[in-house]
Amino acid sequence: MSADNTLVAAIQRLKADRNAVILAHYYQEPEIQDIADFIGDSLELSRKAAATEADVIVFCGVHFMAETAKILSPDKTVVLPDLEAGCSLADDCPADEFAAFRARYPDHLVISYINCTAAVKAQSDLICTSSNAVDLVQQLPQDQPILFAPDQNLGRWVQRQSGRDLTLWPGRCIVHETFSEEALLQLKLEHPNAEVIAHPECQQNLLDLADFIGSTSKLLQHTETSSAETFIVLTEPGILHQMHQRVPQKTLLDVPGLDGCSCNACPYMRLNNLEKLHQCLDSLEPAIEMNEALRLQALQPIQRMLEMSR
Ligand code: 13P
Ligand code: SF4
Repeated sequence: MSADNTLVAAIQRLKADRNAVILAHYYQEPEIQDIADFIGDSLELSRKAAATEADVIVFCGVHFMAETAKILSPDKTVVLPDLEAGCSLADDCPADEFAAFRARYPDHLVISYINCTAAVKAQSDLICTSSNAVDLVQQLPQDQPILFAPDQNLGRWVQRQSGRDLTLWPGRCIVHETFSEEALLQLKLEHPNAEVIAHPECQQNLLDLADFIGSTSKLLQHTETSSAETFIVLTEPGILHQMHQRVPQKTLLDVPGLDGCSCNACPYMRLNNLEKLHQCLDSLEPAIEMNEALRLQALQPIQRMLEMSR
């Protein structure tokens, strides 16, 4: 048995002993995706976390995702293989600065992208993900002023899709802002029949070149439903692992970062690995802990999102 197979077998034994469920985001390393019980986008993962009957949730993703699972399932033990797995969008929106910003717009309804801390969620009226943001905004009364945080690229895309004027917090994803327009144009020249599919966290100049825009799950579904044979994929390349499995006959191309760097891989997501996954199942640490008052405040806008999401 190879070292990896031994580790996988040990993880599976521990998972059964602990009555644990392994939830993974599409940006995880392929070997983590292969061992997960469920892989999904942020909305699907939060639904799974709310519904699971397991005692332990091993969240193979980043901190805000594990924190959301804990907010929804406070009686479960929620562990994250590497506690340092953060997110530049959450870091870009400190709770105290957000409170001061929000205070300048007292009549605005606050919608926060799920990629933020519990302390920012607690100051929000409604949470959204990239999968439901447009739909949720469209459900709000036309005359309702809206403040949208923390991703300005997603916010601008929602603005264009919904025709609503949003006041934006200037946060950004360091991964999705790294794609090179020049490299994308070159790929389009080399593959004239390819469809460009993009995550809405990308900058507008890239989204303007996209044929289809959506959350990770929607991008994955699109590779199956579209008749195109080649896709240029503008999001973190971890998603290609599932795409290759769903559409093995199609050609999938990822786009390099500026100056050809490989910084299109999310440095936070990629902190998790099989060894750390095994270790956190064994020790049940690092576990997500949260003050109950904060949890209850952060829960309300998440529940509102789940109720409003079709
Ligand atoms: P999705 O909800 O589309 O999976 O996006 C999560 C994320 O962090 C994208 O960078
Ligand atoms: Fe955050 Fe960007 Fe990584 Fe997604 S890809 S977790 S938004 S840093």
